[in-house]
Amino acid sequence: MNDHLTAVAQARTSFDRLLQQEKYAALIRDDGHLELLLGMIDLQPGQRALDIGTGTGYLAFPLAQLQPQAQVHGIDIAENVIRRNVEAAARQGLGNLHFAAFDGLCYPFPAQSFDLIVTRYALHHFPQMEQTAQAIAALLKPGGKLLIADPLHHPEDQHGVIDRFMAVKADGHMRFYDVPELEALFSPLKLERTVFSTMRFPFPPKPEYAILLQNLTPEQKSWYALSEKDGIVRVGHISVGNLLFTKV
Ligand SMILES: C[S@@+](CC[C@H](N)C(=O)[O-])C[C@H]1O[C@@H](n2cnc3c(N)ncnc32)[C@H](O)[C@@H]1O
Repeated sequence: MNDHLTAVAQARTSFDRLLQQEKYAALIRDDGHLELLLGMIDLQPGQRALDIGTGTGYLAFPLAQLQPQAQVHGIDIAENVIRRNVEAAARQGLGNLHFAAFDGLCYPFPAQSFDLIVTRYALHHFPQMEQTAQAIAALLKPGGKLLIADPLHHPEDQHGVIDRFMAVKADGHMRFYDVPELEALFSPLKLERTVFSTMRFPFPPKPEYAILLQNLTPEQKSWYALSEKDGIVRVGHISVGNLLFTKV
């Protein structure tokens, strides 16, 4: 297996397990963030939207509910989670909400299929980012919107300090980006609006995190307000970029 396939396989195994745990699902739920994202977009009747890395459909379900006359698709590599979403959408009578599992590399839709693409807390797992960004941009219709919501690395963290912590989880984490990097990656699209929010979270109780923390300078720790208490290392603050692009 090459690196990209390994990363996707890791992410699939990890998220198919994690997203069934209420504790993990609660960790990434954030009503304020959901409201912010829904306020940045405007899905119209007759339009088609895609949520990439949909997980439990945290964005896809409200999008489909808010605009019953739009078609909303959620895709993810985590097959069991997708299966549960299909059942939940049917139970809720959401005939305009569709889910599919895919390989994380080849997007299963023709070019110019969507008016809106959203992706929340997933982009840092995507392999082969340059090709992936091009593939995502190609899926948009002219005038279509892309909303990316993803944690950002600190501007001074040029050597991936935070990525070394994230890699311990072995969940297919590739890397965090900053706003100029995302703007360059998605440069066929025009960045219209950036809104910052924040996240904080504990790492799982593993000794590797404390060892990584011990080797950081106070300044490096301050970038993410990293701390340790009772054997649990925490990210006290990481900036999230919520970036709205338009395909001109
Ligand atoms: C932290 S969860 C976020 C889920 C959801 N978007 C939310 O906001 O609750 C990350 C999601 O990205 C998915 N993922 C990881 N690598 C992916 C890839 N290459 N392509 C698509 N989805 C991927 C995972 O399976 C997982 O569902």
